[in-house]
Amino acid sequence: MYSLVIQGGRPLHGAVSISGAKNAVLPLLAATLLTREPCVIRRVPNLTDVTYMGRILAELGAKVKFQGDTITVTANRVKGVAGYDLVRKMRGSICVLGPLLGRLREAQVSLPGGCIIGPRPIDLHLKGMRALGARVTIEKGFVCAKARRLVGSELFLGGRSGPTVLGTANVMMAAALAEGVTVLESAACEPEVVDLADFLNAMGANIAGAGSPTIRITGVPELHGAEHEAIPDRIEAATFAIAAAATQGEVTLRGAQPQHLTAVLDKLQEAGAKVDRQPGGLTVKATRRLRPTDVTTQPYAGFPTDAQAQMMVLMTQAPGISIITERIYESRFMHVSELARLGANITLEGPSAVVKGATPLSGAPVMASDLRASAALLIAGLVAKGETRVKRIYHLDRGYAKIDEKLRGLGAKVERVQE
Ligand code: EPZ
Repeated sequence: MYSLVIQGGRPLHGAVSISGAKNAVLPLLAATLLTREPCVIRRVPNLTDVTYMGRILAELGAKVKFQGDTITVTANRVKGVAGYDLVRKMRGSICVLGPLLGRLREAQVSLPGGCIIGPRPIDLHLKGMRALGARVTIEKGFVCAKARRLVGSELFLGGRSGPTVLGTANVMMAAALAEGVTVLESAACEPEVVDLADFLNAMGANIAGAGSPTIRITGVPELHGAEHEAIPDRIEAATFAIAAAATQGEVTLRGAQPQHLTAVLDKLQEAGAKVDRQPGGLTVKATRRLRPTDVTTQPYAGFPTDAQAQMMVLMTQAPGISIITERIYESRFMHVSELARLGANITLEGPSAVVKGATPLSGAPVMASDLRASAALLIAGLVAKGETRVKRIYHLDRGYAKIDEKLRGLGAKVERVQE
């Protein structure tokens, strides 16, 4: 087990390169199952979640080759069973269901484990597969889907918390090889969904409307290989942008796409940070005085739930009351109790966290719990005076490539130590 040891209280200064988006690359890799021809995905971040997805594809029979930030996948012959062992480690692996059903007309994928941010239902994924004509049952912890034919249909894919990102990806991939037209209403509009549609269209699919709540997929008989460069990671960019503001620093995010994080940049400006958009990136600069700001997480293009914990740390440094409301997940406030150990003053009121700032943070040992909560603890350690030890940082390595190296490049005193 590794920890990150941070000597905080130093502003971040300099430029950092933003890696490819984890949440784009996982469905992109799943989409390679839709063709027997080789596919090349570029700008792939070096993350444990990506390694896992590569192992799942290999377990399904695909040839997977990692070369630096490029992955070549040739799914010449695939079997339709994705076992429990790897799938349980990563919720994102559920997105092999759609491609396997599209390619083989049958699939057995282990039910993804829940995770610490709340139950992670897949009812909407299954609703989509059934709408295409699949018979779907749950047997011994596996989703078993089988279809003599896949036929396009019109379906509403919205859930109680709004659209589903991976559900939209799964149905889009199965529908790409179905007969006829599928119309998805209340589809997720995330940039990662658009990136997947672009890749599928490069493979010969016929998808229109990605990025809007209505996506139209006209099925084709087969797909061919393609090359694709993943979009930059908007959540990594948001994490560094918030860290720059929280540490009173100035950071340039090389390769970030500002139009993918307008809600975050809007809130950073409201909180008093300066944001300067440039071709090929953006710069975030703190100002002397932060202002309290209310944030509610929403589906894209609203404020992303994956940046909620990080924003909460910034609000501990703004004088006044900030209310942060989580509308996407039931329990995504695990970071609150750990932040309190560093001196934060936050009370939970149902779906909202009431942050009373500004509170000086002082270093202490803390425990990472989920990917984005760990990012919040890291930012808090960078702000806190003294030493903070963030334990179990395997959570961080799932979603942030070389995070300690990148932070050292911005002047932070961060070391990775083996416990
Ligand atoms: C994707 O998860 C991301 N993961 C998550 O990022 C992100 O938080 C989430 O989208 C929301 O933006 C990947 O892309 C790999 P959802 P996904 O289906 O697709 C409910 C991170 O930190 N729901 O959009 O699994 C669900 O419970 C991760 O990088 C149903 O009710 O999320 C949640 O409340 C964490 N039924 C809401 O919808 C379903 O069938 C949004 O979930 C599916 C989802």
